[in-house]
Amino acid sequence: MNNILNYFNRKHIKKIYINPLPAISKREALQIASFFFKQELFGAGPEIKQFEDEFKQYANNKYALSFAKARVGLYTILKALNIKQGDEVILPAYTCVVVPNALSYHGIIPKYVDIEPKTYNMDVSAVKKAITKKTKAIIAHHIYGQPCNLSELREIARKYNLYLIEDAAQSLGAEYKHKKVGNFGDVAFFSFDYTKNITTGQGGMITTNNKDIYEHILEIQKTYSFPSEKYLQCLLLNLTRIPILLDSSFNILGEPLHHLTNAIDSKTLKILSPSMTAEEMSAAMPAEYRSRMPAVLAIIGRQQLNKIDAINRIRIKNADYFTQELEKMNIAAPVIAEDRTHVFLRYTLRCKNNQEMAAIFNKHQINIGLWFNNPLYPATADMGKLLYAKGSCKQAEIASRQVINLPNHAKMTENDLERVIAVVKRYKEEFNQK
Ligand SMILES: Cc1ncc(COP(=O)(O)O)c(C=O)c1O
Repeated sequence: MNNILNYFNRKHIKKIYINPLPAISKREALQIASFFFKQELFGAGPEIKQFEDEFKQYANNKYALSFAKARVGLYTILKALNIKQGDEVILPAYTCVVVPNALSYHGIIPKYVDIEPKTYNMDVSAVKKAITKKTKAIIAHHIYGQPCNLSELREIARKYNLYLIEDAAQSLGAEYKHKKVGNFGDVAFFSFDYTKNITTGQGGMITTNNKDIYEHILEIQKTYSFPSEKYLQCLLLNLTRIPILLDSSFNILGEPLHHLTNAIDSKTLKILSPSMTAEEMSAAMPAEYRSRMPAVLAIIGRQQLNKIDAINRIRIKNADYFTQELEKMNIAAPVIAEDRTHVFLRYTLRCKNNQEMAAIFNKHQINIGLWFNNPLYPATADMGKLLYAKGSCKQAEIASRQVINLPNHAKMTENDLERVIAVVKRYKEEFNQK
């Protein structure tokens, strides 16, 4: 409710959001609304295979299989690779809680390693130290849209006979040595949740070039059900509601209506923000977890996939503008490591205190991101249950207090970009210098 009161008290400048379903246009949102009562699309349909085929073509992989979420893809990969209770899997301690959750549902022990302070990707030297006789796989996370050090990780995986699983949830379209991510490990997974470069509200895809792994995953996919009608209608409602309410031409009424529907929902139905459930915060498996992607989301995914390169180009252009402006202020811009392209799902900066900085930006009607404000994001995640020992990954813990993400998406106007930079300029002593 405070959000609504604040809205009427403030000067009417447009709010800039970190991710107002950035890839969905108003026209698409209206089309999605028309799917609301088309229950015949809520299960199987030819569009699923069409989306998988088009995705594997885009990603340059031999095989692709879709799921209700990327986390379900990871859970399925672990099962297909026969990684079991008591086995160990190495992953970065700067990730989303749903990643170690997928391990814990199988009784697999997560071995967290620290990150590089400059790129926020996994520190390869820490990976080597974490290997034991029980290690079965490494999860190579490409954070914020930038590939991790794939050559070295591949080398380590080969040497110790480990599976390499690419977590490409944030990096669709990014390249390492001129090749798309998802082509370096044994198997990879991608996410289409509402914060990603393209979205189906919630959704995920596995890719692989290994026939054996593909066949195993296909067998498992066949045993999964489709999400319930209620769940899908909530997703479709969100995909329609947010782009329309937050569209600038509808701003005066749209934003308070957006807050109002959120406020009512959080007190009553609790259905409008299905990204992570309360169970997932305590490492429990939510209902309907083992689900695959239904036709209705594959239809949306196919349309979205057509736009991925255009969307990534805009994000990169926006990022170039931010970097140029930060250079003028001598503020440290994101580092792009050699041989990589960065698709800038998130544009990161370090400051003294990211929580305080978020409040400052908010006063200027700019909603910034806090990925990741906890080694296992979000801060409400039960790290103890997921076997993360506080103090064990220092760089990840420092980053979780310092990093902010500037809004950077395909709907940002020149004026929006300038407003973001104006706030950075005003508080420039709060940011890390080069
Ligand atoms: C690094 C990373 N991996 C995996 C996931 C899981 O994706 P999904 O929400 O599609 O399950 C996320 C979620 O945002 C993520 O940030």
